Amino acid sequence: MDIIRVKNYQTMSEKACGYLVDKIQAAQKPVLGLATGSTPEGLYKQLIEKYQEGAVSFKDVSTFNLDEYVGLERKDPNSYHYYMNEKLFKHVDLSIENVHLPNGAAGDLQQECRDYEASIKQAGDVDVQILGLGLNGHIGFNEPGTPFSSRTHVVDLDESTREANARFFESKADVPTQAITMGIESIMESKEIVLLVSGAKKAEALARLINGEISEDFPASVLKQHPQVTIIADEEACVHIR
Ligand code: F6R
Repeated sequence: MDIIRVKNYQTMSEKACGYLVDKIQAAQKPVLGLATGSTPEGLYKQLIEKYQEGAVSFKDVSTFNLDEYVGLERKDPNSYHYYMNEKLFKHVDLSIENVHLPNGAAGDLQQECRDYEASIKQAGDVDVQILGLGLNGHIGFNEPGTPFSSRTHVVDLDESTREANARFFESKADVPTQAITMGIESIMESKEIVLLVSGAKKAEALARLINGEISEDFPASVLKQHPQVTIIADEEACVHIR
């Protein structure tokens, strides 16, 4: 794992943007793996700016998001589909047919998981997967204890994750209890992974990732087994790292 230390959230977002723009320009049909949450918002803003400046086009880009809440329709303002539309998709020249998120409102969730896996394979696997880091080490919605061999699946969300995400909802009670997430093995099949980590509240999780052992109790630790991982972390997140 390479670690790029940057000053703050802004510089983390700029660095990640530069990284993705280079990848988009280098590939004929780039396949990006995307995340939601607070961490990548600055990256998406930067990408929109680059697009508006004419420095990058998304017309040949396909995207696959890590996860989606179960039970929320795409147009629900709390769905990850809605988030992605607002934060990135509607502002750039991505083709709607190239955008993929699990459908959390699917009638048959197991079939939806299988179909999602198949569509990633059909696109030729993810070239660069963007990840955020959960406070408990989750990646996607793969909570502690998830087998490293997991594929796209339905998960029961940890109480701590529902609490952390309650800030986007009116109350914690409104946070769905389940989600569909790409599995750990599915994530690990991405050709490259970029993990973004910002802020003091992530410092312990980042230190555990760097210094701790590889264990299903801390899902992000699996990244140490991937040949091509870049962590872009800001000063506050790096306080416990020498
Ligand atoms: C989001 C996702 C999650 C987040 C993680 C960190 O699609 O898969 O794993 O990346 O919960 O969230 P933030 O960035 O809000 O701290």
